[in-house]
Parts: sequence; C-alpha cells; structure tokens
Amino acid sequence: MEFTIKAGSPEKLKSDCVVVGVLAGGELSPSAKALDKASEGALASILARGDLDDKAGATLMLHALPGIPAARVLLVSLGNDEALTDKSYRDAVAGAARQLASSTAEEAVFCLAEIDLPKRDMFWRLAQATQILKDSGYRFDELKSRKDESRKGVKKLAFMARHKDESALETAIRQGEAIAEGMALAKTLGNLPGNVCTPGYLATAAKKLAREHKIKVEVLERTDIEKLGMGSFLAVARGSHEPPKFIVLHYKGGKAKDKPVVLVGKGITFDTGGISIKPAEGMDEMKYDMCGAASVLGTFKAIARMALPINVVGLIPTTENMPGGSAIKPGDIVTSLSGQTIEILNTDAEGRLILCDALTYAERFDPAAVVDVATLTGACIIALGNATSGLLANDDELAAELLASGQATGDKAWQLPLWDEYQDMLKSNFADIPNIGTKGAGTITAACFLSRFTKSYKWAHLDIAGTAWKSGAEKGATGRPVPLLAHFLLQRAGR
Ligand code: BES
Ligand code: MN
Ligand code: ZN
Repeated sequence: MEFTIKAGSPEKLKSDCVVVGVLAGGELSPSAKALDKASEGALASILARGDLDDKAGATLMLHALPGIPAARVLLVSLGNDEALTDKSYRDAVAGAARQLASSTAEEAVFCLAEIDLPKRDMFWRLAQATQILKDSGYRFDELKSRKDESRKGVKKLAFMARHKDESALETAIRQGEAIAEGMALAKTLGNLPGNVCTPGYLATAAKKLAREHKIKVEVLERTDIEKLGMGSFLAVARGSHEPPKFIVLHYKGGKAKDKPVVLVGKGITFDTGGISIKPAEGMDEMKYDMCGAASVLGTFKAIARMALPINVVGLIPTTENMPGGSAIKPGDIVTSLSGQTIEILNTDAEGRLILCDALTYAERFDPAAVVDVATLTGACIIALGNATSGLLANDDELAAELLASGQATGDKAWQLPLWDEYQDMLKSNFADIPNIGTKGAGTITAACFLSRFTKSYKWAHLDIAGTAWKSGAEKGATGRPVPLLAHFLLQRAGR
C-alpha cells in the first residue's frame, strides 16, 4: 500500500472510498459530520437503523451516498467508551484495514487520524495507523504452490491530515512503514519452517539485510566460536547436524564515540527439547524459537530504513536444539565464555545456554545498554498470556524506557521482579550454576540465570514466548517485539 497526505474536505472528494469514524453513542467524527451535512442527513439516518456495531473496529460500508462524490463511505466504530483509548483507536484502524483489504476499491481517503485521543498527537496517530494498515497487508504464501492471486484491496491510501509542519507528517508515515517492514521480515523468518530457516539461512538473511542497508555483518563459524570459548552455546549445538552460527550486526548511525545499544536475539531454529525431549503435540510450533533473532533482524531493518542517528550492535547465537548421539545429556557440565561452569539439568532449557555466551560477548562493545529478546519460557505464557511480553532488568530506568515503548506502540511488556530471593532458586551441587531453577517462577529464574552474565552493564530481558506467535486458526508469527524495540531506539536516538 502506498501512503500520502491530503488536506481537503471529505465531502468534496472523488474517491473510491472515504473512511470516517463514529464515536460513542453514535456521535459523528468531524469528517463524518461533514459527509452527513452534504448528504442532507443520509448518513445519520442510516446509522440510526443500528447496523453499525458499537464495538471498536466494527465497520459498515455504504455505497453511493446521495450528494457525496465518493463511491463508498466506510463507517468505523471507535467503540462505546466515553474516554477513547489507544486500543480503541488501534482496533478501529485494524477494522478499517480488514474492510479495505477485501474491497474492490483501489484507493481510499482515511479520516480516522483526526480523532482526538488523550495524550496522543497527530504524529502518533499517523505513525500507528500506517504501521497497522501496512502490517495488515502481510501475507505468507511463499511455500504454497497456488498463490492467492486476487488483486482485491486498496493500493493507495491518502491520510486526511493537516499540520503546520507537513514534513513531520511525512516522517510519521515513513516511521510506520519502516516498522511494518521490520515486522514483515520478522514474521517471514518466524513462519519459515525449520528445514528452511536453519542457522545458515539466518546468517544468509543477515548478510542480505546488510547488503541492502547501511549495516555491517560478521558471521562466526563453529571453529571461530570454539576459539572464543563459547562452551555453553556449543553444548546446545552438539546434537544437531546443522552448523551453528554466531551473527554479529553493526549499525553505525551515531557518532563514533557513542556507546552502542546491543540487541541479543535467541536463534533456536528448532527446539525439540534435546534429550529432555518435548511432547509431540504442537511441537511444529517450536520452529518459532528463533523469533528473538528474527525481531533483532527486523529491528535492524526498521532503524536502517529510518536512518536513525544511533549505534546498535546485534548479536544472534543460532543453532538447532536436537537429540542426537553427541547431544548434551542431563547432568553434563559445560564452561561458558564467562568462565562460569553450568550444570545442564534439562536440555530443554537451551535458550539461556546460548544467550549467556552472547551476553558475555556483548561486554566487548562497552554497551550503553543490552536488551536480549527470547522465546525463553512456557511459564511466561502462563503468567502473561499472548498479549504481553515479560520484562526483567537489572536497571529500572532501562526497564521504564522499554515499558513506555511498549505502551506507545501497543506492543506491550510487563515487568517481573528480579529480586535476590529468586537467585536462591539456582543452586548446583556440582557446578557454579544449574540451567534450571527449583519449581515455580520459571520466567524469573530463567532471567536470574541470564543476570549472572550481565553484571557489567545495564541489561533488560524480554521474554516473548507468548507474544511472538499466535496459535489456532491464525497460526503464525506476529512480528513482535519489533515495534517496541524500534520505538525504544527511536527514543534513544532522540527522534
Ligand atoms: N523455547 C522454549 C520456551 C517456549 C515454550 C517458547 C513454549 C514458546 C512456547 C524453551 O526453550 C523451553 O523449552 N523452556 C522450558 C524451560 C524449562 C525446561 C525450565 C519451558 O518453558 O518449559
Ligand atoms: Mn527448550
Ligand atoms: Zn527454546
């Protein structure tokens, strides 16, 4: 979809479709009011029949409204709450997007960004709407022999918006587009099956990204990883025939002296559990265990597209977690890059084993902050469901920044405590640290494990086991938390 800005009056526009909002109690938005007036009350009288549900995102398509040059008017409900929320706005945009995608209208004029929201300006409303509209057009049919060839859906969309600084509106649209593009990359990598999206495939994808943008990439091979001494990461890779890779990305948009933000993404391209093997049901979904890595790549794409003035390093340890003749066994003890020894009590707690070595590697960049992103624990889905990522951090200011970015983008996170009480749940009789905690608080003990490797810098951990993926009829990757991370870096870059 192509996005532009238009200033004008909706009741005078010749368009395939004008999209306008209806507020609580059937109150018309300013554009809807203008259309109603021009149609001599036709709009209000149709609305009075009650066919537009008052749930935010509900829609009603009207054709050939008298006195209106536009061929269609799409009414979109913003919900029946007096106080509009970010969510009702997002739901309304998503509802409109669904209708526009299945309409034969080729272009549309979009008048929802005029809706007043508490604390959200025109810039925010445009950026959000662009991101949602563009993201809703995402399709994954690469691996179907018969593609959906229907050319339905709006191709060009003009935002009805006015502002004293028009270039700011353009910037908002470009930001929304960049983030949706980053999400699309993350989704595709997450949706690709384990036999296609291998560690080697992720390395190739990173190289392609670097070729197309101002990004540098290094791929460390098994021998390099051995030389470095990443004994914990390599332990996970032992069970697989696919060679592991350690991907290092550099985006240098800032000044040479600016300390980088380091993003670390878990890249398990398939998690069988290893010798502590998982049950068969739903195991196919463990192809998404590389969504942390995918979101780091997606975020790099977004920030490069926005040309953010900031330095960012991306670290992606990637391997399969397989049972095999040389796979690690419960009870095995390995030495991490940090020198700490780890007793592997459960081979299915492999994410932390690959992340800990990447987190130690991060020290060499003297980072301003390190954020790791991982589909780390099933316990996080139990605690927070699929709406909210788990956030744990050793620095409350960093945590607050990430929480705020979650709120601003709707890609929300919630902080869990990383108190010392929980550190006591990690004790090994035979090594420095076990890779699992005693029963309970699984998301927290996983983060406690990681915290043993992040003492020298400000660090936050996002557990995206619940948010990176949707199960059920709409099974697939969500592209989260690219919006949260991109917004966090936008803020850090002072944009
Ligand atoms: N990749 C899984 C976590 C996961 C589970 C992500 C379900 C998405 C959906 C991770 O490697 C894992 O297996 N974690 C174990 C940890 C346990 C052995 C301490 C878990 O959550 O069961
Ligand atoms: Mn696992
Ligand atoms: Zn895993």
